[in-house]
Amino acid sequence: MNNMEYIVKLGGSVITEKDKAMKINYDSLCRIGSYLRKNMPKIIVHGGGSYGHYIVHGILEKKKRLDYTDLPLISYVMDTLNREVIKCLQDYGLPVVSFPPHSICSIKNNELECETGTLKRIVEKGLIPVLYGDAVVSTGGIEILSGDTLMVFLAREYGLRKLVFLTDVDGVYVNMDKKTIIKHLNLRDPRSQLAFLRESNNIDVTGGMRAKIESLKNLPSGTLVYIVNGRKESHLSKVFVEGENPGTLIET
Ligand SMILES: Nc1ncnc2c1ncn2[C@@H]1O[C@H](COP(=O)(O)OP(=O)(O)O)[C@@H](O)[C@H]1O
Ligand SMILES: [Mg+2]
Repeated sequence: MNNMEYIVKLGGSVITEKDKAMKINYDSLCRIGSYLRKNMPKIIVHGGGSYGHYIVHGILEKKKRLDYTDLPLISYVMDTLNREVIKCLQDYGLPVVSFPPHSICSIKNNELECETGTLKRIVEKGLIPVLYGDAVVSTGGIEILSGDTLMVFLAREYGLRKLVFLTDVDGVYVNMDKKTIIKHLNLRDPRSQLAFLRESNNIDVTGGMRAKIESLKNLPSGTLVYIVNGRKESHLSKVFVEGENPGTLIET
């Protein structure tokens, strides 16, 4: 399991302070870099955290919807976060290359399309592309493409059967108040109760844990998805060094 090729998402809730606008948590981000160096992923995706979510939330509060004129600001803000992510990961020796989704992806009639030719060649060279939750052009204007949706799209595109989502909770809670997590979840099992899934406690425009799990239903069966607390060093060690499940392991 440990040597399986994988794709990882650095949740915005881990690499930024979600309750403070435009604030990066460099300790978390760089610690993750040190663990990814030990067990390199094929592709990295990161979320918007207090960068993307704050900006989009602000625009939506003001004028209720997004349009083309919002793309320059949203893409600039996410690019700013991405540069810091790239720098930190490069400092830890990861051969990462930025791939802004707004320049290769669009949504046509609710279908995500990305030009992945160059991305594939970069991966073949042993380099690691870094993509992120972004605003992309869509049929009606622009839409938010969440990092979670992008993870599923890329895993399918590259046939990756292991996905690791680093987030700010210990796994999927069955009881939010008691913080009890479920260790294993089989999405194909009709008995799996997903009623406990909620959105995010943070400012979040892409639906938190509920939307994350929902998007996994588009993965081929037999895929392993790890939901891991990216802020806890012992959990990072468990998933990246020991190849074990410190949080919730979801089978599709
Ligand atoms: N059943 C649940 N288990 C765990 N987290 C949940 C659950 N329901 C809702 N959440 C919320 O989802 C959040 C994680 O999603 P999100 O904030 O979007 O993080 P990320 O940055 O990793 O995408 C948690 O911080 C929590 O507030
Ligand atoms: Mg999220």
